[in-house]
Order: sequence, then structure tokens, then C-alpha cells
Amino acid sequence: MSTPAKSNKPAYKIAPSILSADFARLGEEVKNVIAAGADWIHFDVMDNHYVPNLTFGPMICSALKSHAVRASGQPVPIDVHLMVQPVDALAAAFADAGADYISFHPDASGHVHRSVQAIKSKGCKAGLVFNPAASMDVLDWVIDDIDLILIMSVNPGFGGQSFIDSALRKIENARKRIDASGKDIRLEVDGGIKTDNIARIAAAGADAFVAGSAIFGKPDYKSVIGAMRVELAK
Ligand code: DX5
Ligand code: ZN
Repeated sequence: MSTPAKSNKPAYKIAPSILSADFARLGEEVKNVIAAGADWIHFDVMDNHYVPNLTFGPMICSALKSHAVRASGQPVPIDVHLMVQPVDALAAAFADAGADYISFHPDASGHVHRSVQAIKSKGCKAGLVFNPAASMDVLDWVIDDIDLILIMSVNPGFGGQSFIDSALRKIENARKRIDASGKDIRLEVDGGIKTDNIARIAAAGADAFVAGSAIFGKPDYKSVIGAMRVELAK
């Protein structure tokens, strides 16, 4: 019997952002998007200080945790994107609320290494997020400590914006850094991702894709996620 050929394709993750979901039916939206094939649930936390918008906090995360489960009973990771300043107290509260990944913007923390360690000490995976005009130099010093890099392809604060093309160069740069580190670090991209640009973003080196309006803006979540997977398989 022959062994099946190993695929070189990374295990791509599609992370619908519930920022674009119907807030009056959040639990149902989480269940529906998981049934439609979501790999992670992306949870955008905005504080009306680091970004000019205000969304939801740890209590909502905790309430949704029991909904983030597949029909098989397997939990679906909650991918918390903190757009808050300061970082540490809310990061701890989200860890207690059941977050799996907690990512923050390094420019929002006075002590990035300490914030990363604090997240990991709670048993969560830690990520760093880079705005479109932000340098990634901090990775020279902390890449060995993190589990995820999140590249913003829009300015944070709102869903439904257009993808900023310079993010592609940044993704390529981050991919080189990850490969050089030899570590198992996810490379996620957030903002303006649609079925018609996801393949280009993957080709630049991304392996996790946040999509808010592209998925929740359509009536059939499964057909959008399915179409994204077709593009990723090309
Ligand atoms: C922006 C958020 C994104 C946003 C993406 O600050 O971090 O996650 O919801 O939304 P779309 O996919 O609509 O650009
Ligand atoms: Zn986000």
C-alpha cells in the first residue's frame, strides 16, 4: 500500500471577524459561521482610545465561548485582537474569559516582552499586530517568544475597508522572519480580505485570514468560505 503524498500546502485558517456579524444575534452568528466552516473566531476588541471605535469586552467573549464549538464537540479557537491601550489588564481578562489567541499592538504596550509573557503565563498563545505604517523591528527581539504575527492590511478601527497593497510586502517580510526563526508561528492578515484577493495574500506567505464583511455581508457564509478555500487550494 502506498503512503499518500505529503501536501506542501500549509493548513490555512479562515477566521471570520464577528465585528461584521449581527450584534443582536451574536451567539447564533458564531454557531452559523462555524457550521459554515470557520476555523477560528476573530474577536475585535476596540476601546475608543487606541482606535476610534468601541466594541465588546471579556464578558461577551465569555458568553460566546460555549457557542464556539463544532458539532463534534471540538472547541473552535477564539482569536482575540486587542486594539486597546494599555494592554495587560484586558489581556488577562480575556485569558480568563476563554480566549485562545491574544494579540496586541506593540505600540500600545510599554513593555512588549512583559505583555507577551503575561499572556503566555495564562496558557494562551500570544500574537503581535502591526499597523500598515508600523515597523516590525520589535520582532528582532521577541520573535522567539510569540505564536502569531498579525499584519493589518487596513488601519484598525472599522470593518469593510479596502485592502492596502503595501501589506503584501510586509507579509513577505514577516514570512522571511518566521522561516529564519524556525519557529511554528502563524502569519495572519486582517482587513479587506475577499475571495478575489485571498490567493495573492496566501502567495505572499500568509497562512491565516481574517474576513469580516466578506463573510457576514453575504447571506450564505458557507459559499463564501468555500470559495475562499477553492482560491487557497489553487
Ligand atoms: C479592523 C479589524 C478587522 C476587521 C476586518 O480593525 O481588526 O478584523 O473586522 O473587517 P473586514 O474583513 O470587513 O475588512
Ligand atoms: Zn481584527
